[in-house]
Amino acid sequence: MSTDSGAFDDLLHEERRFSPPAEIADDAVLRDPSVYAEAASDREAFWAGWAAELDWFEPWSKVLEWDPPRAQWFIDGKLNVSHNCLDRHVEAGRGDRRALIWEGEPGDTRTYSYSELLEEVSRLANALRDLGVERGDRVTIYLPMIPEAAVAMLACTRIGAIHSVVFGGFSPESLADRNNDARAKVLITADGGWRRGAVVPLKANADEALQTSPTVENVVVVARGGALTEEVAAPMVDGRDHWYHELIAGAAPDCQPEVMDSEDTLFVLYTSGTTGKPKGVVHTTGGYLTQVYATTKSVFDLHDEDVYWCTADVGWITGHSYIVYGPLANCAQVVMYEGAPDTPDRGRFWELCQKYGVTIFYTAPTAIRAFMRWGDQWPGEYDLSSLRILGTVGEPINPEAWMWYHEVIGGERCPIVDTWWQTETGGIMITPLPGITETKPGTATRPFPGIEAKILDDDGNETRAGYLAITEPWPSMLRTVWGDDERFMQTYWSKWKDIYFAGDGAKLDSDDYFWILGRVDDVLNVAGHRIGTAEVESALVDHHAVVESAVVGKKHDIKGESIAAFVTLKEGIEGSEELVAELRQHVGTKIGAIAKPELIVLTADLPKTRSGKIMRRLLRDIAEGRAVGDTTTLADPAVVRRLQDEHEEEG
Ligand code: WT7
Repeated sequence: MSTDSGAFDDLLHEERRFSPPAEIADDAVLRDPSVYAEAASDREAFWAGWAAELDWFEPWSKVLEWDPPRAQWFIDGKLNVSHNCLDRHVEAGRGDRRALIWEGEPGDTRTYSYSELLEEVSRLANALRDLGVERGDRVTIYLPMIPEAAVAMLACTRIGAIHSVVFGGFSPESLADRNNDARAKVLITADGGWRRGAVVPLKANADEALQTSPTVENVVVVARGGALTEEVAAPMVDGRDHWYHELIAGAAPDCQPEVMDSEDTLFVLYTSGTTGKPKGVVHTTGGYLTQVYATTKSVFDLHDEDVYWCTADVGWITGHSYIVYGPLANCAQVVMYEGAPDTPDRGRFWELCQKYGVTIFYTAPTAIRAFMRWGDQWPGEYDLSSLRILGTVGEPINPEAWMWYHEVIGGERCPIVDTWWQTETGGIMITPLPGITETKPGTATRPFPGIEAKILDDDGNETRAGYLAITEPWPSMLRTVWGDDERFMQTYWSKWKDIYFAGDGAKLDSDDYFWILGRVDDVLNVAGHRIGTAEVESALVDHHAVVESAVVGKKHDIKGESIAAFVTLKEGIEGSEELVAELRQHVGTKIGAIAKPELIVLTADLPKTRSGKIMRRLLRDIAEGRAVGDTTTLADPAVVRRLQDEHEEEG
């Protein structure tokens, strides 16, 4: 297990408890604790109750067909996601309500009402159809955090195209890999997006990726980065590239939504695993929408007057489920921000909360730790009294950060929902309910009603400290890995029979609350982003000077984990600071800046067992400057001493 569990034993003795404040509990979406027992007694009826709040063109004939590990939810049901996120609200007379309240990093703003969003989505949907996109085709979306990102996703769902959103921080090579794996027909990108006062050249990256993405026939380009005023050059390729604004202007404003089967694929989202190749997690339509709708409403206690802000990027699952689909299916007023939290200064998030009267704020522990470090004076300058509910997601939150969030941001009045889930689960799985659950700093508390989670040992027996397992199917579960069903079976369903293996370690405390300990596989969590050690290793070995590498996570105060790489150079190649810098840059070029190792140790040997397996545990000890544990299984115990010396030289 990658996390030191000794420290977690102390956490289980956490004595601080926070009850739901009366003003929230009295009027909460879910306020009666009996909801847990009711959902458990008939899970299918519970989920069907939520599904029935959505619009279905044709009703389902059966709630669930479970042929492990194959789940089908809402069999024969027909619906369309964009219809549920847009038309449904406009038809109910809510067309003038604000859907997206957007602010760019430079301070420009745009607001879309539900009617306006519907019109723009319909126009883009028509334009995509004109470009030859058909039901079931894949469309890659590589955009900054601008309203067009949500428009593009919804436009795909409107015509039954499958989107694959690629985070704007990924390199051209990562983008090309994803285009090719999904065999994407169209790419939607922008000339650039603002980040920390500069324009990220997305179109230039895209152009590079397109040289090795033969399936992409057409490219739609949003003018965001100043191409039109020539601040950024984005030469358009005749016959391939199309300006978004021109397509929109030329397209009809109405578009009949495609009637989709509940089990049709809605999107693919690539995420890192234990091999060098990211996997395309496949989500389908009816079950996914039902769970993100239900959890957005009840976990964030969404009411009409709320102004909701989730600070994630649409390139991650959090952005899919809790910026776009969950909130819009609920007719929420959604704040979206393009840029960095410290631009122009470290008060930017709090300025936005004050300016838009944000009532629900959802962010990541890594961000909370950075805010803590920056100091209380930044939030202290703004009026945060509109905030009602705070959320966190992405990694375990340390109790100090939880307390700071509670006191300094929440003014001791806002329940904190620590939500555990994954790209694969699609929606929130383990979480407090703000009107019901007594919280404790550092625990995600209990499974959401209708979700069955357990802690199991290697043999599948229940224990109080072991592996987190989901023992019953849930509506927004992944259905397969795109193009690699074998990997789906192997990764999630081979550890135990008919039980989902999440890849996290966890413990139960005396209240039966779940404490998530972190990944038990070779997957790192750097600033809430999932990165496979094998991916970084392949990127390093790809460099001409490198013969072998081993990558491990190293504890980091702000990021949770940072990347440490141990690298063996080819014989005759001299190590130098320049080479280390070059290796770091090489990883950035291969994967993206988020994967650059913080520490690179050049070493003549790696600690291996007699069978040749690299002992990562020892490397973690060395990277974190700890006493090195048991070395008796090493082929050459002297390697460790040499490594420690080499590390000290680096440090
Ligand atoms: C992994 C999933 C779910 C959206 C963001 C990340 C870790 C997530 C928590 C939490 C402790 C958490 C787990 C999980 N994780 N939320 N509240 N407490 N750990 O999505 O990239 O698919 O990563 O993030 O390790 O397996 P992801």
